[in-house]
Amino acid sequence: MSNDNNHAKRNRPHFSNHALPNDARRKIDNRHFAHLNLRARAIELLEQVYHGQSLNQILPQAIENTPAKDKGLLNELVMGTLRHWFALDTQIKPMLSKPLTDTRVHIALLLGLYQLLQTRIPAHAAISETVEAIKQLKLDKASGLVNALLRRASRELDSMQAQFEANHALPAWLYKQLKKDWPQQANHIAQNLRHAAPVTLRINSREGKRDDYLVELKDWDIDAGACKLSDDGIELRQSASIVELPGYHQGWFSVQDEHAQLCAQFSGDLNGKRVLDACAAPGGKTAHLLEKNKPALLVAIDYDEKRLSRVHENLERLQLDGAHVQVITADAATWQPDAQLDDAELDHVQFDHILLDAPCTATGVIRRHPDIRLLRQQSDVQQTAQLQAQLLDHLWQQLKLGGTLLYVTCSILKQENHQQIAAFLKRTANAQLVPLELEALQQNTSVLDLQPNIIEGQAVIGLQLLPQQQGGDGFYFAKLLKTA
Ligand SMILES: C[S@@+](CC[C@H](N)C(=O)[O-])C[C@H]1O[C@@H](n2cnc3c(N)ncnc32)[C@H](O)[C@@H]1O
Repeated sequence: MSNDNNHAKRNRPHFSNHALPNDARRKIDNRHFAHLNLRARAIELLEQVYHGQSLNQILPQAIENTPAKDKGLLNELVMGTLRHWFALDTQIKPMLSKPLTDTRVHIALLLGLYQLLQTRIPAHAAISETVEAIKQLKLDKASGLVNALLRRASRELDSMQAQFEANHALPAWLYKQLKKDWPQQANHIAQNLRHAAPVTLRINSREGKRDDYLVELKDWDIDAGACKLSDDGIELRQSASIVELPGYHQGWFSVQDEHAQLCAQFSGDLNGKRVLDACAAPGGKTAHLLEKNKPALLVAIDYDEKRLSRVHENLERLQLDGAHVQVITADAATWQPDAQLDDAELDHVQFDHILLDAPCTATGVIRRHPDIRLLRQQSDVQQTAQLQAQLLDHLWQQLKLGGTLLYVTCSILKQENHQQIAAFLKRTANAQLVPLELEALQQNTSVLDLQPNIIEGQAVIGLQLLPQQQGGDGFYFAKLLKTA
């Protein structure tokens, strides 16, 4: 296994928000953290995100270091404040007579107001715990201000609530772009992105049938139902500990968004084929392809070695690894198959099918990763679109004549989706679109707004699915055939 990801790292869009020089960015000190109350812990975490840190890299450890009885609340306070950050800020700003000098005081106000507006925590407890947090963070001077503003807010909640709920809660640049891309759906999308995403399972069709597993769940008194669009999807209608569900350790299912599951459906029959999964980590879609097919060869590459180790873990848990599966650390924008594949006979191999689940702004999955609201910047869109174009052009060379490439993003921005593919088709004479059809989508009018192309009657280039409150995330798919 070789690592040629330096080039990729140079090209990778650098997502940061209020990035500070390293010495100005305070790291979370675990010993200090353990002595803080829950609100102070939340403020510390939110401050890190504000300065450009991804939540994935700090929240799991913080939750691990928090007593069991408080883990759920810490998660809720951090995720909830991020989810509503910009709507909370709109309420707080007019209450301030002068700008705040410390970010943590600002965050404490957002966190305090979040509790007042969105949780059942009694107002007196929300306010006193938040004020105590400010003191624990050695910001005593600001405790009077935080106390006074949160008390005022608690008296004005009724008038605030309507305005708060009507707010789009997105960074201004993103809301503006959504309005431009999806004028009719933008407000609906913004509201859907404020809710927590449903938990969806993907049944491992090698291990059993979806209907049988639904019966099993019913026997366990777990409320669940079949997804509308994904053949393998199960929607959990109640909270449950995933690892305690029947068959988790035996690999009977995985957790995966319903729209993400459509990748394998759209890829078609891959039995006996040579398949490249070009941006594979952590391997959700790789595993799904292998559950549904027995390809002659499946090569999964990603330039992030750490994330790639999760592909190995996933394939092992689901018992999908084998000699026909190769996992390689590489930059998909430059990778040449003959350089790395184990089997010498496969020199100059071209693939029958390539899945390009491209790096993107992830604007379609903001409800699962609410830190994206703060981390993503407008300039990232252009940078990401350039990388996607580079990946498309290079991977097209690895596809054999008559082969197909499925381009996927979890973005809802046209520049990464329709416009990206329209531009690719224009500059690539031997590429032709393959129509993607979802029978369930045509039959079920209640999910028609998933697919704005149908409503608007525009020329259809690929399939855009928008985030649904009780359904899947925002995803885009385009399938391309190599004709010459
Ligand atoms: C959307 S995620 C893939 C998710 C994955 N397909 C799954 O279903 O679990 C995009 C992936 O692209 C990888 N990536 C970004 N740029 C890359 C490049 N130039 N070469 C290879 N991988 C890249 C990232 O490390 C990330 O893991």
